[in-house]
Amino acid sequence: MSIFWSLWIIVLTLTCLALVFWVLMANRKVAVRDDEDPENRTTGHVYDGIEEYDNPLPRWWFNLFLITMVFGLIYLVLFPGLGAWKGVLGWTSVGKLERDQERALESYEQSYGVFSSMSVEELIDNPKAMKMGARLFANNCSVCHGADAGGNYGFPDLTDNDWLYGGTPEKIRETLLHGRAGNMPPWGPVLGEKKISLITDYVLQLSGQEHDADAAAEGASLFAQNCATCHGADGKGMQTVGAPNLTDDIWLYEGSREGIMQSLRNGRANEMPAQKDLLREDKIHVLTAYVYSLSQE
Ligand code: HEC
Ligand code: HEC
Repeated sequence: MSIFWSLWIIVLTLTCLALVFWVLMANRKVAVRDDEDPENRTTGHVYDGIEEYDNPLPRWWFNLFLITMVFGLIYLVLFPGLGAWKGVLGWTSVGKLERDQERALESYEQSYGVFSSMSVEELIDNPKAMKMGARLFANNCSVCHGADAGGNYGFPDLTDNDWLYGGTPEKIRETLLHGRAGNMPPWGPVLGEKKISLITDYVLQLSGQEHDADAAAEGASLFAQNCATCHGADGKGMQTVGAPNLTDDIWLYEGSREGIMQSLRNGRANEMPAQKDLLREDKIHVLTAYVYSLSQE
């Protein structure tokens, strides 16, 4: 703010105050006129036969006026208000904001701090912790996993008991802290369309869907050679590499013939972003408990 505008505001404010003071004093009457003559005790104004007494302002009202003015002056000395004058107290709105934030952080750390010392099993029975977990989830996770954590195409459902990487508190915590990268190499160039079709029949058989039995029988040996390392000999998946169970009707992508063939042809690459640099330790703890609670019915 330039000196000119600063002075402009100072002069304007003080002049206004002085003016109001002057108006107040100039119109001041000290006492009721003692004249017994009622004519003399009115201002002489008549409106529709109503006359106006020429009495002084009530004392309390007058004093209140003075007090507000004195208050105004003291305020302008203590706090910023007169142009660039910062006030003798050094109050700033930024300072107030910072104090408020500090206080909020303190109470927030207290509640998370309490939760940090509790186990996941204790937290899932604590309604307040679960409410905080739900809020954290809505803010940080629901964009990918859905508001109800029910998942989406390519994003796993967190409310069922089908886990890519494991559903114990330890495994969930590991997932959140370090993230996960699920990778299946593309099989199109390696196996060719014919073999992919045979294996697909076998995967359809594994998941109890309509399939060609002869093709599935041929696909079974191809599966053992190429797929069992990750998905397991029985096709039930392997949590160490995040390979999904292929024998149920839960699909990360699509379980139709075309969907499975697409997974095989092009492979799949998926990433759960690590949260350890995004969220504080105590928040991750509460979130771990919240995610764990979703599949504990
Ligand atoms: C950018 C999208 C994205 C965000 C944000 C995200 N996730 Fe994920 N998450 C994924 C994907 C994709 C996977 C699957 C990874 C894979 O297939 O290997 C996953 C996997 C997981 C798993 C493992 C599931 C299993 O079956 O083992 C958990 C648990 C999880 N996420 C929890 C969370 C939580 C809690 C948050 C919030 C802090 C979160 N995710 C935020 C995309 C996301
Ligand atoms: C290197 C380990 C690995 C091998 C080998 C592998 N997969 Fe996978 N597969 C995965 C992983 C990991 C995923 C999950 C990818 C993701 O998280 O996005 C997956 C996903 C899939 C899916 C999608 C499942 C769903 O729920 O949508 C199908 C189907 C599949 N694999 C079948 C196969 C078949 C058939 C073979 C053999 C030709 C095979 N995979 C070989 C690791 C492997």
